[in-house]
Amino acid sequence: MKQHKLAARVEQISPFQVMAVLEKAKALEAEGKPVIHLEIGEPDFSAVSQVEQAGIQAIEQHQTGYTAATGLLELKQAISHYYASQYQVEVAPERIIVTPGASGGLLLMASLMVNAGDDVLMPDPCYPCNRHFVMQVGARARLLETRAEEAFAMTPEAVEATWQATTSGVWLASPSNPTGAVLSRSYVESMYDTVQRLGGHLLVDEIYQGLVYEGEDFSALSIADDVFVINSFSKYFAMTGWRLGWLVVPEWAVEGATKLAQNLFISAPSVSQHAAIRAFGQDVLDECEQRRQTLNARRLVLLKGLERLGLPVASPAQGAFYVYVDVSSVTQDAMAWCLALLETEYVALTPGADFGSKDANLYVRFAYACDEMDLLEALSRIERFIKK
Ligand SMILES: Cc1ncc(COP(=O)(O)O)c(C=O)c1O
Repeated sequence: MKQHKLAARVEQISPFQVMAVLEKAKALEAEGKPVIHLEIGEPDFSAVSQVEQAGIQAIEQHQTGYTAATGLLELKQAISHYYASQYQVEVAPERIIVTPGASGGLLLMASLMVNAGDDVLMPDPCYPCNRHFVMQVGARARLLETRAEEAFAMTPEAVEATWQATTSGVWLASPSNPTGAVLSRSYVESMYDTVQRLGGHLLVDEIYQGLVYEGEDFSALSIADDVFVINSFSKYFAMTGWRLGWLVVPEWAVEGATKLAQNLFISAPSVSQHAAIRAFGQDVLDECEQRRQTLNARRLVLLKGLERLGLPVASPAQGAFYVYVDVSSVTQDAMAWCLALLETEYVALTPGADFGSKDANLYVRFAYACDEMDLLEALSRIERFIKK
């Protein structure tokens, strides 16, 4: 009889702890319980209506076939123009590879730059799928210990000290998931210098670009032409399900990235690409700015509420829509605490263990992608839970 056997790498992917939270939340909702979702890393907005209309129009006009592997030229020109007007940086459209979400971009990046047997340095905590993209090409993610007082960023000194002959590069994100921290220009500059000197590559995931409330909203592309940058329409443009993102590569990597894009994806979704061109219209950008302000107002409500509860925010939550909270005053087991909170007060959060290992049992991530009334209600339920 044929033995069913999955590839060994599948075994190495542990399921996200938040899945247990989600399942429990679904079961409670099925019983009619009023669950408040602060665990979901997805904007509670949908795409701006002009963008949706452009998508409908693309279908009506049958613009549904494959596109060029690296994306529609018009879309790449619009992204290039956006970099120039919004971030004062020149990025030739040829350097922009349009991908199926940032996820597609990260997989492309791993395939482009990382050899089997290599390792890639990332901060602990960081976006959990990164390690699996690297694993997919036979390499290994090494999560470097960080300190809450340093906003969970790896220091260039630590990168240098840990660097090995097998180290391919450093992957960062700003604003960060799960911490919401925004890296400073001087930090990215010094990390770039370090990585350059060590002969590796630097990737900055800018998927939350635009969602910055404090600190400088800049692109690492303004620091050097040979930084690799990931971005997406998922967050700032609230287009998660449209599956569209991009990777910016240096001139010398365009040909290789194109070959890989052809082979891995053929092209990113064409309807989404046609719609996304409309995302750079001033009216759409104005609406996105309004949404940013709405998110900021929620962030301030959450920060104030957490302060009142005596739950310290672990690092300055300056961007994205996340706050990483130190719950060590109420538990030593964040996962168990999250489940108990959900079961008794119907508030869903993500335990820190999904993002890293060092002291992860002492942190939880709040996502403020829900309206202010729900946030206030969640805070008062948490207060009741803590006081019990
Ligand atoms: C830091 C980071 N990078 C990449 C992604 C993947 O996003 P997408 O594939 O929807 O563009 C996410 C999703 O939450 C993320 O938080």
